[in-house]
Amino acid sequence: MGYLQGDKPITISKLLSMHAAGEKIAMLTAYDSTMSALLNRCGVESILIGDSLGNVIQGHSSTTPVTIEQVAYHTACVVRSNSQAFVISDLPFASYGDPTQALESAAQLMQAGADMVKLEGGGDWQIDIIEHLVKRSVPVCAHLGLLPQSVHVLGGYKVQGKSKDVASLMHEQALACEAAGAQMLVLEAIPSSLGKLITASLTIPTIGIGAGPDCSGQVLVLQDMLGISPGKPPKFVKDFMDGHTSIEAAVKAYVREVKSGRFPGPEHGFAG
Ligand code: KIV
Repeated sequence: MGYLQGDKPITISKLLSMHAAGEKIAMLTAYDSTMSALLNRCGVESILIGDSLGNVIQGHSSTTPVTIEQVAYHTACVVRSNSQAFVISDLPFASYGDPTQALESAAQLMQAGADMVKLEGGGDWQIDIIEHLVKRSVPVCAHLGLLPQSVHVLGGYKVQGKSKDVASLMHEQALACEAAGAQMLVLEAIPSSLGKLITASLTIPTIGIGAGPDCSGQVLVLQDMLGISPGKPPKFVKDFMDGHTSIEAAVKAYVREVKSGRFPGPEHGFAG
């Protein structure tokens, strides 16, 4: 490839212009090359190498054991067969505790092929990290609501932002993430009304997972939406294999339903 030639059609500029035009963004997780190729064939616009790989791939009960080397390894696997999608990789637990460590960790993910890194939380110290990374040309996706890396502090996987105080703090944090330079924001397990309010207050796209139908796009863990994760799925998950006879047909249905606004339905959301 020649110098100054991009390698993929879906860039951050493309996602931002889709968002400006009111077109929904379809994102899914993937951790390996075969699934990455399949998501590319199905028109998934962004692939997240989530630290959910700790649960889904490694069999842990939380994401906290996941290391930066592991996310970098899975990022490289996904990128090898990705020709279309915008790739976001998670900075895992305790890999961005201070600006120097955050930049070193982000560099590992970008060097493995990530187009953007994601980090959890919108407190003062995370805002400083976002600003530090963005100033050094690392594109950042923020993540608010249910923060799986904080599960041991939260005492379980619970819907966040139900009380007025927490909802208004989250709203302020979302504005601070955007002001610090984040170009995307994942909202996880919050009331649909709060997802709507935050999305309307920002210019950057919000990507919901249990945050209602008004987010700018949606993401699910691939194994969840294929109905193959063990145990009871969270309320915000829809099993797209139901009614489809192949993984490819299920993923295409997900993309169609996200883009048409059919998914998520009211049954996948939380009340305030
Ligand atoms: O790790 C992950 O897969 C995530 C999504 C659930 C948003 O952060």
